[in-house]
Amino acid sequence: MVCLGNICRSPIAEGILRQRVKDAGLAIETDSAGTSDFHVGEKADSRMRAAALQNGVDISDLRAREFVVSDFDEFDIIYAMDRSNYGNILNLARTDADKEKVRMILNESNPGMDLEVPDPYYGGEQGFQNVINMLNEAMDVVIQKIHA
Ligand code: 4NP
Repeated sequence: MVCLGNICRSPIAEGILRQRVKDAGLAIETDSAGTSDFHVGEKADSRMRAAALQNGVDISDLRAREFVVSDFDEFDIIYAMDRSNYGNILNLARTDADKEKVRMILNESNPGMDLEVPDPYYGGEQGFQNVINMLNEAMDVVIQKIHA
């Protein structure tokens, strides 16, 4: 799960998927990263941590890291939160196989629409819940696909 800072959108995306994977007893490795180094080593934004807890998801252990090229080797699917993240990740791809791993997360719940998870960093409290709602819908589909 990849966004810009790895402190708002991708940590909650990881947290939601991680919890669902665990609840389903699946052997899937989850992680998240940012395309920037702005917040490396930091916890997720306190507003997102609070919103996560209100939704029963604990992301207090997560720390921001920067996306690295070797992530293409470590992971089968790389989900971008918005089109900018998507472009930044594709710019780091070395091969067509790398490129084929990169997807827009909301295309799981809204196929082919290239909808974006809006960055809640500069917005109000509702922005964080809005992000969680969107990602819950997308992860429903991700988990269904893994089961299938
Ligand atoms: P994120 O949100 O990409 O969802 O983690 C952001 C957090 C911080 C900044 C940008 C986006 N920033 O520029 O500091």
